Amino acid sequence: MTIRMSFTVEKKNEPPQVIIHKPALPVSKISNLHMFKQIEKGTRCNEQELNRRKKVEEILQELDSLVGLHTIKKLVLEIQAYLEIQKKREKENLKNNPVVLHMIFKGNPGTGKTTVARIVGRLFKEMGILEKGHVIEVERADLVGEYIGHTAHKTREQIKRALGGVLFVDEAYSLARGGEKDFGKESIDTLVKNMEEHKDNLILILAGYKQEMCWFLETNPGLRSRFPIQVDFPDYTIAELQEIAELMLSQRQYCFNEEARLEMESLFLEILHKSREYSGNARLVRNIIEKSIRQQAMRLVEQDQVSRNDLLTITRNDILLASQN
Ligand SMILES: Nc1ncnc2c1ncn2[C@@H]1O[C@H](COP(=O)(O)OP(=O)(O)O)[C@@H](O)[C@H]1O
Ligand SMILES: [Mg+2]
Repeated sequence: MTIRMSFTVEKKNEPPQVIIHKPALPVSKISNLHMFKQIEKGTRCNEQELNRRKKVEEILQELDSLVGLHTIKKLVLEIQAYLEIQKKREKENLKNNPVVLHMIFKGNPGTGKTTVARIVGRLFKEMGILEKGHVIEVERADLVGEYIGHTAHKTREQIKRALGGVLFVDEAYSLARGGEKDFGKESIDTLVKNMEEHKDNLILILAGYKQEMCWFLETNPGLRSRFPIQVDFPDYTIAELQEIAELMLSQRQYCFNEEARLEMESLFLEILHKSREYSGNARLVRNIIEKSIRQQAMRLVEQDQVSRNDLLTITRNDILLASQN
């Protein structure tokens, strides 16, 4: 993961920026954030606070249960700790640093970007930063219109839906592909304007392939300074894909037998050999798992006697059939 950190000179109309180069504490205008308005009122009772902490703990556990993603987990923990401490500093009338929580997620499809965005949304809700914490997932077609003025309207509509939560723009680089005259540019301008305007109650996450997102940020230098948190989502290793497969099965109350486990591993090796890009990553794992489960059902429905163990077990043949169609 490349999280970079550098201080940039404050420009007119731009908040002071910190760009993170390695896992570090983000900085944002915390006094504007929701959480502090609640604390200012000073009405939170202990029970409420205990409940909130329990929920935060549960969400962090959910994040922790994801396979790999170590740097992302560490970063989220850092942000969470930082915000908690800012709350305490606020109580002591200590100075707050400005914080910007808009983010760039870079990685291939199926590397967990949407999953992490959903967790971040819910976490920030429990921490009082966002009112609702929901995630609105959009792509170019949802933001860009067909005639002058249409794009700004379409983009504003999506922002409106996302208020109180996260607006997650998938394959965001495609907004810049058509250059200056393309309506995509109008959408970027509208997003930038609104992310400033609604900074108390909206987090914008721009996601996409690593190379394309780097190009996107290079061609829009004004954007880079507005997204202090940049996160790389690396492709999963074979061992991680295997672990994800086991996790997905156990969540559905199934398991592999030993032969199936070996088959799954050689399937991952084969896929990796064919395409260096892992063509799908964890999403591919999910597809194979779901198909294997259907294959198991097809197999068992033919049997007269079905034991509990039969119902639990995915066999090598289930996987072979699943990977064929
Ligand atoms: N680290 C992980 N551990 C467990 N499941 C994962 C992990 N990463 C992704 N998944 C699962 O893989 C699927 C695709 O992930 P997703 O977040 O949609 O990827 P992306 O948004 O990067 O395309 C989802 O079902 C998700 O739950
Ligand atoms: Mg996604």
